[in-house]
Amino acid sequence: MKRKMADRVQQLKPSATLAINAKAKSLRAQGVDVINLSAGEPDFDTPEHIKAAAIEAIKEGFTRYTPVAGIPELREAICAQIKRDYGLTYAPEETVVSCGAKQALFNLAQALFDPGDEVLVLAPYWVSYPPIVELAGAKPVIVPSSLEKDFEPALEALAEAITAKTKGIILNSPSNPTGQIYSSEFLAGVAELCQKNDLWVISDDIYDKLRFDGRGPENILSVAPALRDQTIMVNGVSKTYAMTGWRIGWAVGPKEVISAVARIQGQSTSNATSIAQKAALAALTGPQDCVSEMCVAFKRRAELLYEKLSQIPGLKLPKPRGTFYAFVDFSAYYGRRTPAGQEIKDSLSMGDYLLEEARVATVPGVAFGEDRALRISFANADEEIIKGVTRIGEALAKLT
Ligand SMILES: Cc1ncc(COP(=O)(O)O)c(C=O)c1O
Repeated sequence: MKRKMADRVQQLKPSATLAINAKAKSLRAQGVDVINLSAGEPDFDTPEHIKAAAIEAIKEGFTRYTPVAGIPELREAICAQIKRDYGLTYAPEETVVSCGAKQALFNLAQALFDPGDEVLVLAPYWVSYPPIVELAGAKPVIVPSSLEKDFEPALEALAEAITAKTKGIILNSPSNPTGQIYSSEFLAGVAELCQKNDLWVISDDIYDKLRFDGRGPENILSVAPALRDQTIMVNGVSKTYAMTGWRIGWAVGPKEVISAVARIQGQSTSNATSIAQKAALAALTGPQDCVSEMCVAFKRRAELLYEKLSQIPGLKLPKPRGTFYAFVDFSAYYGRRTPAGQEIKDSLSMGDYLLEEARVATVPGVAFGEDRALRISFANADEEIIKGVTRIGEALAKLT
């Protein structure tokens, strides 16, 4: 092509997790018996009372544009939820509803970061953080962590990564892909660094209610309320209420930032879907047993997956403490050869091998900045988890 497209798309890759999920689904559609342990969404259906609210909205003709930042009732319900979960008081003007938490994060990066800015991203990270930062022209600075420390980076490493250009940090706990939860001490240490260096803090709390220790949500503001003026919390209905397809998420934080996000959104997508906003309202204000029921199921499956994977020689993983992901170190098998003679070199070749030989879809850790590991989702029925792990074990045993 003679006409050149914009520089910003030259390096932009498709989301690895969405791509693998699509590949697994298409193999399945061709009749291949694939066990999909790559999904980034709950396998449960959206609860009936939430669906009913959307149907009612359609029947009532609630099908027009809404205010860009969301319908007032939903913004109020978001404030009520934050009060319930974190004990923090916010006004509806300090909230903005977007098309998923992903758009909230994208808009925030546009609102907060300039070319030349650096943004701290803690590895292993959710796949979309680096591109979202890059699309704002800023540079993601990756701070590593290790499995031995349950993927909690050392505060010293974080401090060393901060330069005069550092403008913000993105936090995600419970974490996709690790399934781990940052300790209160770590969050307090991060808060101190952010305060000292005047950084924006984006707290991606999308899995905050999917934790297995019976404790309520905790984020950086829980341990350092003084950071309120520089922190924006991001959340949504996708994971908590099994509503990934409805595309409703939000950002909550200082009014000027929220208003900037709304201005950006007003020039791109306008409001999130009117009908989906009504469904999200029903999710937040209706019965919450569906959340605890899903959490109990995920906890049981986490234990099942952990127990089964721990029996496979060479695999290492911390026990998942939230979300629906286990992050598993397969590197003991790197350097070995497949029955066809191919060398397993990294998480990509391991992921391909598991898909081809074991017919199990996982997500190679390289997508999350950790090439030794693969992400295994337990948003799946118990039998599928058992079958999937058994097949993984058999495939690994064939490596020489
Ligand atoms: C850590 C994290 N943040 C944000 C999102 C985006 O969620 P949403 O469906 O609300 O856009 C996801 C979805 O996979 C996620 O894992």
